[in-house]
Amino acid sequence: MLADKSLVLVGAGRMGGAMLRGWLELGLDPARVCVIEPFPSPELAALCAKSGASLNPAAPPAAPDALVLAVKPQTLDAAAPSLGALVGPGTLVLSIMAGKTIADIAARVPAAKAIVRAMPNTPAAVGRGISGVCASRDVSEGQRALAHALLSAIGSVEWLAGEDLIDAVTAVSGSGPAYVFLLAECMAVAGEKAGLPRDVAERLARATVEGSGELMRQDAGKTPAELRVAVTSPGGTTAAALHVLMGPDGLGSLMDRAIAAATRRAAELSG
Ligand SMILES: NC(=O)c1ccc[n+]([C@@H]2O[C@H](COP(=O)([O-])OP(=O)(O)OC[C@H]3O[C@@H](n4cnc5c(N)ncnc54)[C@H](OP(=O)(O)O)[C@@H]3O)[C@@H](O)[C@H]2O)c1
Repeated sequence: MLADKSLVLVGAGRMGGAMLRGWLELGLDPARVCVIEPFPSPELAALCAKSGASLNPAAPPAAPDALVLAVKPQTLDAAAPSLGALVGPGTLVLSIMAGKTIADIAARVPAAKAIVRAMPNTPAAVGRGISGVCASRDVSEGQRALAHALLSAIGSVEWLAGEDLIDAVTAVSGSGPAYVFLLAECMAVAGEKAGLPRDVAERLARATVEGSGELMRQDAGKTPAELRVAVTSPGGTTAAALHVLMGPDGLGSLMDRAIAAATRRAAELSG
């Protein structure tokens, strides 16, 4: 899918850099990749030099198959004027900028017609992210498949029925890694209160979250609820903890409020 595609990547920081590494591993022809990044990190410069991808050429190639926008949202206005000249009639514009709508991009880069907006998350850095994705009406089936392939380089891809769902995606998976890190934090703090040395509690909590995530990945046929039930003996220690966690003011209602707050904030930030 990617081998014969030409691509311009605008912004190669954490996310853009992770995508670039993934594309090259998936077989995108480096000779057809151009990276625009005002302050390339030494790692990015080395990757481009080693692979042969062009970095900050004087004249970036016009009308690539895909133009990927991975700059910070607040940078879009500054970057937009130079982007218009790069977009051809068949160019897919794929944006991962948080809070920038398809309409925002179309307004700033009028040449862009086929626009895909994606919300990835930070596990993208290790190829294990997930992106919620929506497309403008002008995106063809081929361009949809291209966007899917490009995003697959950093993890799973979930197509959404409409752009209005992006704020909820932001709240669940975009911000979600922080919730999981907090879970490990809270488990460690509570373990220390239960008498464990702090460093031991931290290692136990961390390894538990890591290992449980891996189990969930390997046992993808089971729902998280099924996995939970499978490790909960009636009347046992896990059941005692879950009785608290699943009580009326437990994790379910806390998570409802947290996701609702993040969804509202995402809407405010893109409004
Ligand atoms: N990180 C996440 O979890 C996450 C999740 C979902 C979506 N996103 C979105 O992904 C995008 C990138 O995030 P990130 O974490 O990768 O940010 P980042 O590390 O700051 O990367 C953005 C890069 O774009 C560069 N840049 C700035 N102006 C430019 C221009 N005019 N032309 C080309 N490149 C330019 C920046 O250079 P300088 O550093 O020199 O300014 C920086 O290297 C953001 O829009 C963010 O909203 C991120």
